[in-house]
Amino acid sequence: GTDGAAGTYVAAIDQGTTSSRCIVFDRAGAVVAVDQREHRQIFPRPGWVEHDATEIWAKVQDVVAGALARAGLRADQLSALGITNQRETTVLWDRATGRPVHHAVVWQDTRTDRLCAELGGAAGQDRFRETTGLPLASYFSGPKAAWLLDEVPGLRARAERGEIAFGTVDSWLIWNLTGGTDGGVHITDVTNASRTLLMDLTTLQWDPAILSAMRIPEAMLPEIRSSAEVYGTAVGPLAGVPVASALGDQQAAVFGQTCYGVGEAKNTYGTGSFLLLNTGHRPVASKHGLLTTLGYQLGGEAPVYCLEGSIAITGALVQWFRDQLGLIGSAAEIEELAASVPDNGGAYVVPAFSGLFAPYWRADARGVITGLTGYVTKAHLARAVLEATSWQTREVVDAMYQDSGVRITRLKADGGMTANSLLMQHQADVLGVPVIRPVVPETTCLGAAYAAGLATGVWRDLDELRSHWQPDTEWTPRLAAADREREYGNWRRAVERSFGWLA
Ligand code: G3P
Repeated sequence: GTDGAAGTYVAAIDQGTTSSRCIVFDRAGAVVAVDQREHRQIFPRPGWVEHDATEIWAKVQDVVAGALARAGLRADQLSALGITNQRETTVLWDRATGRPVHHAVVWQDTRTDRLCAELGGAAGQDRFRETTGLPLASYFSGPKAAWLLDEVPGLRARAERGEIAFGTVDSWLIWNLTGGTDGGVHITDVTNASRTLLMDLTTLQWDPAILSAMRIPEAMLPEIRSSAEVYGTAVGPLAGVPVASALGDQQAAVFGQTCYGVGEAKNTYGTGSFLLLNTGHRPVASKHGLLTTLGYQLGGEAPVYCLEGSIAITGALVQWFRDQLGLIGSAAEIEELAASVPDNGGAYVVPAFSGLFAPYWRADARGVITGLTGYVTKAHLARAVLEATSWQTREVVDAMYQDSGVRITRLKADGGMTANSLLMQHQADVLGVPVIRPVVPETTCLGAAYAAGLATGVWRDLDELRSHWQPDTEWTPRLAAADREREYGNWRRAVERSFGWLA
C-alpha cells in the first residue's frame, strides 16, 4: 500500500504500432509498474495496414488497469495522465455513437500513393512543404482521411454536417478517456497535428488552403492544443485524473531523453527508427529529405521544433527475418547468429517494404538483397539485416548535417533494438560518434509522463527533469574511417538498386 502518497505518481499511456503500454512513474522518474498488450495487424492487401480502433481502446483500458494493479495504486493516487501514440495513423469516428466508421489506416499503409501524386500535380511532392514541413507522402494523415472520405459511402456528407470526428490516435484516446459520446473533448496536440500535412508549422492552425485542396471538412478536425496542459478530466476507472499531455511517440522520446537544447538528438529503434534533432524555436526547412516537425510545446510557451529522419523499417526487418523467413526463433536470437561471422560476407538488405522514407521519399522503391554469392550464409544475412538499421540511420545523420550544419557529437538511443549490442556497436562504428543508452530506456512513456507532470506541478522545470537522465551503456566507434566509408558506398549502391521497382 502506498496510502498518503497521492500527488507523487504519474501514469503514461503509449499506444504504439504493435502494442499499447501503460507505465506508472514516481517523482524521481523511475518505473513503478508496466503493463503491455498487443493488438491485431490487419493486412487487407499488399501495402495496406489497418488497426481496429475499438480494439485499441479496449487494450488501452486493460493496460491502464493492469499497470495500476501491479503498482498497487488507486486512480486517485495519480497526479496526472500523459498520452503518447503511434503517429499519423488515422481514425474517423461517428460523434453520436462513438464508433469508428472504418478500420484505422496505419502510418505504414501505402494506399494513398496515387492520391498523393495527384495532389502534388505539377508542383510535385513538395507542394505543401513550405507550410507543413512535409513532402506529400502516403505516410501522413491528411491524405488517409481524404481517401476514407472518398471511399466510405455517404461519409463526406456526414463529415460536412459535423457528424464525424477525425483524429490521430491521441485524439481518439483522449476523446474516449474524457467521456466519449458523453462530453469527450476533441483535441490533438501540436506534435501530432504536425504529422497530418494539414497544419501550418508557424501559426499552429489548420491551413484552409490545404484543407480545400484535400477536400477535408474543417468540421471534422480536432482543436490543436499544446503538448502539456490539462485537456480534461478522465471518467470511468480513472475518474478525476487530469489528462495533461499528448505527444507523438517520437517527440515524447525527445522529451524523455531530455533533448531540450538546440543540437541535441535521439534515435528510437522500434518498428521503424526515428531520429529527431532539436532545432529550437525556429523551424528549419529541409533540402535533404528530412521532415520539419514540432518537437513539443509546453502550455503557452513558444514551440520547439525538430528536424526528423523517419525510417519506416528497422525492427520490422528483424521480425520479417523471424516470421516470414523463419531463420530465427526469436528476435533476440539474431544477435548470436550475426555474431557467429565477422562481417556481412558482402550482402546488403534494403528493406524498402513501404517504399523508402527519409531521406529518399521514394514510393516506387521495394526491398532488395544485393551482393549475394554462394559464400553468403544466413548468419551473413542476419548481419546485413542489423546493418540495414545503422546504415539507414547514417544516411539520416548525414542529411541532418547538410540541412542544419549541426554535427551530432553523440547519439542518445532508446527503443527495443538498443538491447542488441552488436547493432549498437555497428551504429557507433558507422556514425563515428558514441551511442549512449540511458538507465531508463522507456523514454517514450517517460516523456509523456514528464509533460503531464510539468502541466500539473509534479515537476518544476526542465532542469529538474534533466537531472534525472543518466547514461547506462556507451558504445564508442572502433571501425577505421576508410573501411566505414567503403562499406557506406556499398550500402548506397544497394539502395539505388531498390529504386523504380514499382513502375
Ligand atoms: O511515425 C510512426 C511512429 O510514430 C511509429 O512509432 O514506435 O509505434 O512504431 P512506433
